[in-house]
Amino acid sequence: MRKWLLALAATALGSVSLAQGKLEIFSWWAGDEGPALQALLDLYKKKYPNVEVVNATVTGGSGVNARAVLKTRMLGGDPPDSFQVHAGQELIGTWVVAGRMEDLTSLYKSEGWLTRFPKGLIDLLSYNGGIWSVPVNIHRSNVMWYNPAKLREWGVTPPKTWTEFLSTCATLKGKGVEAPLAVGEAWTQQHLWESVALGVLGPDNWAALWSGKLKFNDPKAIAVWDTFGKVLDCTNKDASGLSWQQATDRVVQGQSAFNIMGDWAAGYMVTTLKLKPGEGFGWAPAPSTSGTFMMLSDSFGLPRGVKNRANVINWLKLLGSKEGQDTFNPLKGSIAARTDSDLSKYNAYLQSAARDWKNNKIVGSLVHGAVAPESFSSQFGTVMEIYLSSKNSRAAANAAQAIADQVRLGR
Ligand code: GAL
Repeated sequence: MRKWLLALAATALGSVSLAQGKLEIFSWWAGDEGPALQALLDLYKKKYPNVEVVNATVTGGSGVNARAVLKTRMLGGDPPDSFQVHAGQELIGTWVVAGRMEDLTSLYKSEGWLTRFPKGLIDLLSYNGGIWSVPVNIHRSNVMWYNPAKLREWGVTPPKTWTEFLSTCATLKGKGVEAPLAVGEAWTQQHLWESVALGVLGPDNWAALWSGKLKFNDPKAIAVWDTFGKVLDCTNKDASGLSWQQATDRVVQGQSAFNIMGDWAAGYMVTTLKLKPGEGFGWAPAPSTSGTFMMLSDSFGLPRGVKNRANVINWLKLLGSKEGQDTFNPLKGSIAARTDSDLSKYNAYLQSAARDWKNNKIVGSLVHGAVAPESFSSQFGTVMEIYLSSKNSRAAANAAQAIADQVRLGR
């Protein structure tokens, strides 16, 4: 009784809520990827102390395992209260077209978000007159990470183009560096591919691939695979056994010179490894992609028929708020999706990412759900396997086009 009265008094004072029950948040931010989410959940817990927060994670970088578990749950009528999903086609082409999500337009209006998030981002979250999730961040895919002290020791600088990269690779190999570029398990190879493709094609032709205007078997797109093959010759042979963090470790520990990975790698290096941006690690746009920001955004939505709807609304309000975004993102290695974040809370890498986000040309990521539906991206692994086993650019390109036709990409 006393506890209840105290809670009521606190609510009257506006500090503590009476919200009760559970809130299950589903994501792939486990282990090393956990601290940013945990900080946000802690903030939620502070505001809604009587809600039991269940942090349901499925390990596996870029959601390789989580998406399969999510599918089983959604189709089995047991949706998590809210789940991580990439803005763009991963959200729209999978769960929105299937009628599984609630429209959040009224929440956007009541929270004033229509003018707080960039228009292009809201467009990515919109379909059929509705807005279908709330973005918590902006990540960049096309970043090349390096270890400044090791580059000085080897006497090389970060290459600006893929051609320059290949000659730097030869120089490094001459100095005994076996694998100048560190890469990890399958999805990280696809991640490397999208930076090579952006560099070889340029932003307009990259976008044309996804709108269906440029065919995958156009000579320009076939050429991507030719360059990709040469870049792969600079990578480690044990890639398939490494997580993205272990590939990053190869650079940090000085075994490899470079790694192409999204800027969650900055989150890992700063939050987990405690390195200082610019000293412990350096960064540059992936070769030949300077001036272009390949974006992706993690978002959360409200599935239809969840058990704890009111708690989810409070969760979405928090992750869309300035306080929520500025708590989460400095730890995550991403910048806020909101345009009014407090940049003084962000490190030197993130401040530079925020500048590029404002001034660069923006394109979307394939591997992280922005430009293609899962019906395409989940089959892209097969295209990659065809290339890796045959080293035949045309065969891989034809396979990609066959899938694009099958899923009616861009139509
Ligand atoms: C991405 C996701 C990031 C990060 C990364 C590595 O797909 O958007 O937030 O978690 O995977 O797992």
